Amino acid sequence: MNHDASTSACPTASPPTSDLRYVQYDGAREDEYVSAMRQLISKDLSEPYSIYVYRYFLYQWGNLCFMAMDDSRPEDPMVGVVVSKLEPHRSGPLRGYIAMLAVREDYRGRGIATKLVRMAIDAMIELNADEIALETEITNTAAIKLYERLGFLRSKRLHRYYLNGNSAYRLVLYLKEGVGSIRTADPYAVHADARPEMAGPILAPPPALLHGNGGGVI
Ligand SMILES: CC(C)(COP(=O)(O)OP(=O)(O)OC[C@H]1O[C@@H](n2cnc3c(N)ncnc32)[C@H](O)[C@@H]1OP(=O)(O)O)[C@@H](O)C(=O)NCCC(=O)NCCS
Repeated sequence: MNHDASTSACPTASPPTSDLRYVQYDGAREDEYVSAMRQLISKDLSEPYSIYVYRYFLYQWGNLCFMAMDDSRPEDPMVGVVVSKLEPHRSGPLRGYIAMLAVREDYRGRGIATKLVRMAIDAMIELNADEIALETEITNTAAIKLYERLGFLRSKRLHRYYLNGNSAYRLVLYLKEGVGSIRTADPYAVHADARPEMAGPILAPPPALLHGNGGGVI
């Protein structure tokens, strides 16, 4: 998750957030929701994601996308969003992945992101997730603090992970005892019975779209 640091300053205005409504993504309202979340998320990116990135996540894991809505601004109610997915990681643990998280600048610092991430975590736990991972820019102190307070641990530093040259931390939340030591398939291993010309990764690499934004996924 890469963000444009120039847009992350704390706001001075402070709209009330007591009556926010938190909702799960609904495919029947795709046009309305996706255009609002693109607008919200693209504010913090150096380059906006294509519509296909959103569709990749929302068509398969719309149940893991949650939004915060402020109905006092009916013309533009979406003030926060989290987009996630859940699938086996290299034939090993069932891994959730938080792909995008953003809160409108003038609504930050009041627990909205924490609530959204908790909703995503709870939904993944319901689906028997073993662990949840994400990447965040090493300079994104707000995000790192938020996730560490929720129990995420730094598992790797990814040198120059983003296309803009910035490095990232991979953060992981282990949901079950012993999950951190579950074996995963080695993507560089060669099957013992494979013919040499068939040798190669066991699994397809992660979709390029996850890292193709001049910043990876936010
Ligand atoms: C990161 C982001 C989602 C946080 O949203 P938020 O609603 O303000 O977060 P919360 O109010 O739930 O804050 C949770 C914790 O994060 C930390 N935090 C939030 N804003 C912070 C800031 N500006 N500086 C340092 N820590 C901050 C605090 O520890 C806070 O807990 P506290 O208020 O008890 O101290 C928001 O700043 C944002 O949209 N940033 C741009 C996009 C982005 O960076 N997304 C994440 C990519 S990994």
